Amino acid sequence: MAELKNDRFLRALMREPVDCTPVWMMRQAGRYLPEYRETRSQAGDFMSLCKNPKLACEVTLQPLERYDLDAAILFSDILTIPDAMGLGLYFEAGEGPRFKKVVRTADDVAALPVPDAAVDLDYVMAAVREIRSALMGRVPLIGFSGSPWTLATYMVEGGSSKDFRHIKEMMYARPEVMHALLGKLADAVTVYLNEQIRAGAQAVQIFDTWGGALSGPMYAEFSLAYMKRIVSGLIRENDGRRVPVILFTKNGGQWLETMVEAGADALGLDWTTEIGDARRRVGDRVALQGNMDPSVLYAPADRIRAEVSRILESFGPGNGHVFNLGHGIHQFVDPEQAGVFVEAVHELSVPYHK
Ligand code: CP3
Repeated sequence: MAELKNDRFLRALMREPVDCTPVWMMRQAGRYLPEYRETRSQAGDFMSLCKNPKLACEVTLQPLERYDLDAAILFSDILTIPDAMGLGLYFEAGEGPRFKKVVRTADDVAALPVPDAAVDLDYVMAAVREIRSALMGRVPLIGFSGSPWTLATYMVEGGSSKDFRHIKEMMYARPEVMHALLGKLADAVTVYLNEQIRAGAQAVQIFDTWGGALSGPMYAEFSLAYMKRIVSGLIRENDGRRVPVILFTKNGGQWLETMVEAGADALGLDWTTEIGDARRRVGDRVALQGNMDPSVLYAPADRIRAEVSRILESFGPGNGHVFNLGHGIHQFVDPEQAGVFVEAVHELSVPYHK
């Protein structure tokens, strides 16, 4: 494998010194880029794009052609696991993800197979290998998965949800069924992420998009506990280098102290937590990733630069910060503004690393 030319991202995750703060954007390959929309229409639809390693590689690299990003992220989706479990994932235009089959009963859970990632998700591994080879060591490649809780919300609800009616009924009224499902998903995610690491992923992120919909005790029992189990089962070193793990619970800012105990190297923050406060709370136990409100990218360049500057100042000097948006980039953002953001992070962060 080619020598890594830019390892700022991996170094920051390990809280090692860097020349400037590394930056990448959640959903950096996506609909705000005209070249992404072009490749997607060539593929036919979103899932066909995910399942075509050559095209998945192409869209992964698109944002890196435009911007000086410090990491690439595998182009795929968190819902590949439930799809491989036989639930039949599809996307309805403007409606988000949907499943043909839902998981509601103990029998439904018992009938779910734990996918063999190397076989059932071979298209994901092929994409990882293709991207690693195309990157030629330019920047590290991030692999990812959804958290068991977040995957379960889609599997039980049958798609996106506002109130989580069915899964919360399961959690409160039939906790043993909920635990059986989450246990299966934790096994599936562990195997899936380890397979991505073997295929060439140099860091992994667990997306817990809906953990923040829970109360503190329910979060600890039904989301965090399973992420902790995954982290303890992951390959942490590959090719002679640490493979850092990032845990991102959206709206999880109030639980940072307990999240640290899951054993990840870094925690992702959305914009509702002040990053300077977060740093004081976690100390030197983990690195932090985040956390500009993606909607700032609708503002003019000066406003974007001011917000980047404010977040850098809030984190303060020293190591352990990976800059990112607090959630995925919106589809209506002007690609120019994303460029302003990336450049501002590199330029304005230099004084914090002297
Ligand atoms: O960050 C990246 O660039 C990597 C690619 C990536 C995608 N989805 C591509 C995608 C990643 C890391 C994800 C994760 C994902 N998928 C999450 C967790 C992160 C988060 O945003 O909270 C979730 C909840 C999903 C499930 C999912 N997939 C949703 C809710 C949607 C959006 C549906 C819609 O119409 O808005 C998707 C589709 C999806 N995944 C798109 C992309 C680029 C857009 C699909 C398209 O091209 O039409």
